[in-house]
Formats: sequence, structure tokens, C-alpha cells
Amino acid sequence: MPNAKMFPFEEIVVTYKGGVKITLAGEELAWSLQYGPSQGYRPLLEKMRQFQEYWHKPVQNHWDILVTSGSMEACSMVLEMVIDIGDPIMVQVPTYEGILNALAPLIPEFIDIAQDQDGIIPENIMKVCEKRIRSGKPMPKLLYVNPTGANPTGTVLTESRRRRIYELAEMYNFLILEDDPYCFLHFVDSKPTTFLELDSSGRVIRLDSFSKVLSAGLRLGVVTANKEIIGKLIKHMTTTSMHASSLSQMLLLKFLDTWGLEGKQQHFNDVQNFYRERRDIMLSIIEKHLTGLAEWNVPKAGMFFWIRIKKMKDVMELASKKCTSQKIFLIPGHAFNYDRSKPDAHLRLCYSYATPEEIDKALSTLAKLIREEIKNED
Ligand SMILES: Cc1ncc(COP(=O)(O)O)c(C=O)c1O
Repeated sequence: MPNAKMFPFEEIVVTYKGGVKITLAGEELAWSLQYGPSQGYRPLLEKMRQFQEYWHKPVQNHWDILVTSGSMEACSMVLEMVIDIGDPIMVQVPTYEGILNALAPLIPEFIDIAQDQDGIIPENIMKVCEKRIRSGKPMPKLLYVNPTGANPTGTVLTESRRRRIYELAEMYNFLILEDDPYCFLHFVDSKPTTFLELDSSGRVIRLDSFSKVLSAGLRLGVVTANKEIIGKLIKHMTTTSMHASSLSQMLLLKFLDTWGLEGKQQHFNDVQNFYRERRDIMLSIIEKHLTGLAEWNVPKAGMFFWIRIKKMKDVMELASKKCTSQKIFLIPGHAFNYDRSKPDAHLRLCYSYATPEEIDKALSTLAKLIREEIKNED
């Protein structure tokens, strides 16, 4: 371990929104610049366990946490731990492209679980499992799901579906990988129940991310799962990135300490209000320009609209060439399918960043491009 006295920092001063200022010096500064335990900084682990108790109320006692460099790292570690070549796994489709990229080298057998406006459909899980039992095929090891604000569809699983899916996991004995980075970015009446809250038998691996509410660049996330799983993931962490950034962990701890419960609740409310407003703005612009050309569901959480262009079979050329050349950046549906060669008529539009004027201009141009494409196809 290097001697922190030789690191060229005197102090690090941070001012959080609202004016709260913290100064890292002495021991805290040395800790922030030093190697640390793979599981996470002990005071942060304590705080995060309280945080999880408060927000997700785990029902089983045998759980613990691991601090990671965001939920993507956590996903990769979990998938590498669980999956051998050819193992069947169930994924919500369409699927966040980062997960597809993490899964590709593991070569699993993908089992699609379709979504409607309320998220993945439990009956599909049941049908798949029953069919596999009948044909003697190996059962899926795991279900990958974004319960709140699925990327890219923006759906929120209903309470009854969450309960039903957990029952099915018990019945058919699969793990649930609950990747929930948009958990605090929902536009429904109250925070949805998480799978962790339903998990009486330790089969849920919950991934939280601080990327959408604190900072994406600090690279912080937390895995919450039963202690055996956490133990294995800690070993994985020890031999890969060793631990999440010490400085980031210290800043998270200070945020959790200094903002108090009300401050955090207020911050999460502010984040929700901000994105809800953005969603509403994009919705009205979509209605203005794309009515008749596309269909969509209104996202109930997250940052994305998932729209289907009605009279086109495939949007790859439109999205990747025509839109890009007009400086419109949107993602074609292909990116969310493990078979990227399949034709797809969906586009993912993001409302987190662009101004209303930029969105209006982009969607007006998109509508023009779609009309031209349809005319050419006719
Ligand atoms: C569904 C989903 N999982 C994981 C991630 C990655 O999150 P993190 O920044 O915590 O690694 C994202 C980022 O957009 C996401 O949408």
C-alpha cells in the first residue's frame, strides 16, 4: 500500500447543492485516496444497509451489500458468476444493450420474455417454464428485468405482476436479477415495491445505481443479495477492479450523512419532477409531429420513449444514416435485441438532455424523413 503522505493533495472541498460544504482532510482524505476493502468503505456499508432497510425493506435477514462501480459492473459480475456457455436465461425484450453486450461472450441460450405497457408478462414466464419441463430441457437459471423504467420501454411492472413473477421464481426455482437504476425516476403515485422487498428465500439480486440521482461519473452502485452471493461477488471484485473508487464512496457517504432523510426525499422528488416535466414536453412534441406515423406508450419512469414507426419494417438506415446526418441522435430498436440483424421498426428517443426547442426541431425533421421513407417504400 502506498503512503498517502506522498499523494499531492492537501484537501478536497466539495459544495453540494443547497450550500452544504464538506472538506476532506487528514484521515478522511487519506482514506479517500487509498486502496480500500473490496466490499466497500465500512462506514458507507453501514449507511447503505440502513438506506436499503429504509427504501426496500428486505424481508429475509440473511442479506448484505457490495459497493460497485455502477450497476453495469455489478451486472457483468453477476452474469459471469451465474452463467456457463449454453445456460438458458430469461431476458425482458427489448433488453438494455449494455446487458446484451455483457451477455454476448457468455453465449447463453436467450429466452425472450415479452413486455406490454405494464412490463414483462408473467404468463410468458410460466409458458416457457412449463414447455421446458414437458420437453425435458434445462430450466432457466435467471430472469433479467428492469422493474421500474425499463430501458428502453419506460414501463413500470405493476404490483400484481411483481408478486406473480416472484411466485413463479419460487415455483420454477430461478434467480431474479433486478437491475433497477431508474427506481427513483418514476412518475407513478408511490415508489413501486421492489423484488427485494418480496424476497423471502434469497433469490433476488438487486442492483441499485447512483448514476441517475447523484452522478454518473462517480461510478457507484450497490448490489443487495443474500450473503453467499455477496461473498462470491466480493471475491470477484478483489481480483478485478479491487473496489469502487474510494473518493466516490466518501462523497456518497457524505451525501447520505449530510442530506438527512428529508433532504434525500426532497432530492429524489426534484429528480422525479424534472424528468416527468421532460417526459411531458416530449410527449406533446411527439403528438404534434408523429401522430399517424408512429405509435407509443407513455413512459411511467426513466428517460426514454420507445416508439414504433407504423409503415416501416426496418429503421436501421433511417436512424443510423439519415437521422445522424441531420444531427439527430436516437437509437434503432436493433440495439436492444441480441440478434441485431433482425428488422426492427422501433426507435428509442431520450428526453433527459435536449431542450424543448431541440426536441421540436429534431422530431419535425424525423417526421419529414419518415414520410420520405414511406413514400419511397410505396
Ligand atoms: C437498465 C440499465 N442498467 C444499467 C445501466 C448502467 O448503470 P450504471 O451507470 O450504474 O453502470 C443503465 C444505464 O443507462 C441502464 O439503463
